[in-house]
Amino acid sequence: MLDIKVERTNEPKKLPEKDNPLVFGTIFTDHMFVMDYTLGKGWHDARIIPYQPLCLEPSAMVFHYGQEMFEGLKAYRAKDGRTLLFRPDMNAKRTNRTCIRLCMPEIPEEDFVQAIKELVKIDEAWVPTKEGTSLYIRPFIIATSPFLGVRPSHTYKFIIILSPVGPYYPEGLDPVKIWIEDEYVRAVKGGIGEAKAGGNYVASLRAQVKAHEEGYSQVLWLDGVHRKYIEEVGAMNIFFKINGSVITPELNGSILPGVTRDSVIRLCKDWGIKLEERKISIDEISRAHKDGLLEEVFGTGTAAVVSPVGHLRWGKDVMQIKDGGIGELSQKLYDNLTGIQLGNIPDVHNWTVEV
Ligand code: COI
Repeated sequence: MLDIKVERTNEPKKLPEKDNPLVFGTIFTDHMFVMDYTLGKGWHDARIIPYQPLCLEPSAMVFHYGQEMFEGLKAYRAKDGRTLLFRPDMNAKRTNRTCIRLCMPEIPEEDFVQAIKELVKIDEAWVPTKEGTSLYIRPFIIATSPFLGVRPSHTYKFIIILSPVGPYYPEGLDPVKIWIEDEYVRAVKGGIGEAKAGGNYVASLRAQVKAHEEGYSQVLWLDGVHRKYIEEVGAMNIFFKINGSVITPELNGSILPGVTRDSVIRLCKDWGIKLEERKISIDEISRAHKDGLLEEVFGTGTAAVVSPVGHLRWGKDVMQIKDGGIGELSQKLYDNLTGIQLGNIPDVHNWTVEV
């Protein structure tokens, strides 16, 4: 158990107005959690302090070789006033898998969850209550050793910041348009694609900018070897409903193992829907669309929740799904998932954790 020192701010910020649209990732709460790591000493000096800039050496290794990881989860305000986290143990486990891949020190799962709970408790007033909002939690670890040689850092900071958010996409629950990328790739098996590393996201930017210029919200990645099999979307995993079956790419070493992905798979299985985790090629999607069998497409992610896709573009092939409207299953999954997260639907899997 961590001994977390707390220094409260003397200058609390004004909470966002109730009708503030809470544009994703733009507002930060009053406090942050910080813990240091030193080789030979381990993690130490856990503290909650006022939200403030960091002071780092320009030679800190994170600035040069990108030794950095992050996580994303949310806290929700239930009708009865409780504040609920959704499956924080999954983020703790994924953090440690990422840390192993990036040669960073692991954090005991219970310490990770305790730090989140204590920070959220202190800034509980920032958990928004309006429908479709939540408190986004961003834990991250950075390499801080002042050194320009290429090797793992000897010192790190584990930091958690909080941000009240509305929907990730300006479209909200309206279907998004997705560009299928066939020039750039995001990751390959053996690389860091399945780790929650900032490097995966910078690798995605060039294609995302190109997609934005064409009027698309996000990029759907194909595998880096055959340029044929579906991997994931910029900030989400992806699901297809074809002729009654739900299909999502299997976790193959280059895809992020999403917490929402796992939860959606579980819900579909609970409801007796045929669900396959397997390789799925872009040709299969295109064929299903031509045959009128591509019933729904949706992305899943902590930030994106369940986001319907209304439009896919692969070269000259433009696929309109559900006449651009939201599908029945996408809506049901969104309603059930957010219902569980908000404590409105029985949580039979024990996914929610009270702060
Ligand atoms: C999340 O859904 O929490 C993510 O980490 C995606 C992020 C890049 C916005």
